[in-house]
Amino acid sequence: MNKIKVGVLFGGRSAEHEVSLVSAASIINALDKNKYEILPIGITREGRWLSAVNAVQLLKNHEPIEKFPEHVLLPDPRKQSLINISTAFPQAAQQVDVIFPVIHGTGGEDGTIQGLFELAEIPYVGAGVLGSAIGMDKVVAKQLLLQAKIPVTPGIWFLFSDFVKKPKEQLALIEKKLGYPCFVKPPNQGSSVGITKAHNRKELLDAVHLAGEYDHKILVEKAVMKPHEIEVSVLGNETPKVSLPGEIIPSNEFYDYDAKYVDGKSVAVIPAKLPKPLIKKIQQCAVASFQALECSGMARVDFLVQKNGRFFLNEINTIPGFTSISMYPKLWEASGLKYSDLLDELIRLAIERYDKRKKLKTAYTPKNDWYKQP
Ligand SMILES: Nc1ncnc2c1ncn2[C@@H]1O[C@H](COP(=O)(O)OP(=O)(O)O)[C@@H](O)[C@H]1O
Ligand SMILES: [Mg+2]
Repeated sequence: MNKIKVGVLFGGRSAEHEVSLVSAASIINALDKNKYEILPIGITREGRWLSAVNAVQLLKNHEPIEKFPEHVLLPDPRKQSLINISTAFPQAAQQVDVIFPVIHGTGGEDGTIQGLFELAEIPYVGAGVLGSAIGMDKVVAKQLLLQAKIPVTPGIWFLFSDFVKKPKEQLALIEKKLGYPCFVKPPNQGSSVGITKAHNRKELLDAVHLAGEYDHKILVEKAVMKPHEIEVSVLGNETPKVSLPGEIIPSNEFYDYDAKYVDGKSVAVIPAKLPKPLIKKIQQCAVASFQALECSGMARVDFLVQKNGRFFLNEINTIPGFTSISMYPKLWEASGLKYSDLLDELIRLAIERYDKRKKLKTAYTPKNDWYKQP
């Protein structure tokens, strides 16, 4: 049997660089070496990739001329140039059957790198361009979730540039609509970076300025008081499966960066102790949100659940943490799917989606050759 060559992509330029390295190491370690040949591909903090035509003529003749050398746009932000791939260096080309992107946040989870895989026609694990971009933008996701009648925390959003023009009016509006405490977020971050829980006007003002360092858009949400932080894992393409829920008990006032990665005192309870009917509702909601937000492959869906059982969808992560102790694989393990079987399934789903898309028509041939007419 031919082995499937899997490019495992890790690192990247986001605040979650380190987490990505740990996740990728777990994945590489667990991938079945009898089934897969692994090509590790690292992206440095600066955006360097490690590892492994003439257009005018084409315009004139409508046909590529084969003798011209091939050029490719290499994803190296330092060069911004088309690189000539000379046949003199065939070893420069590294062929892969499927890519497993394990880059969280900006440049990995936001659709940009997925676009590159699409252009390169390489199957890849996880959400496509649109689903990734939606999942990364908490404001766009919220609007789509509201449309799909999925409960989300009440919130308002505005441009940072509008805020600084009239800060007093904006602060008064937030106080009137949401009150304190409230959560201020840059909509396109992860790992709680740039997020503040504001308890008063001074904190709110500082929080908006902090979030403004990360995004042009600011999201402010009403705080759910003493929430249970419940997470579920979703797996599949068009008819996804959902795992048992787990609960995170953060070590800090909320699940901030330190509580996630630094102090090691947050606790995960798997499975979460919730009444069965509530679990069912949350699971249904997770699948509905996966579909409403155009996800595929995998996603971890996070909820904030009140004592009285009322719950809100907080966010969806299309490339969740993937270390051997991360919630996404742990929840599948608790639901009867081993870590390495989960990886097999994700790779299978990536190829399934690719094959399905490949069957779609992308071109149209008009009856008359109109462009050749005088
Ligand atoms: N509206 C809210 N009410 C209560 N807690 C919240 C709210 N929004 C965020 N939090 C807390 O902040 C944490 C991080 O927020 P989240 O939106 O999940 O951002 P990130 O994408 O960075 O994980 C959550 O896990 C939760 O502890
Ligand atoms: Mg979160």
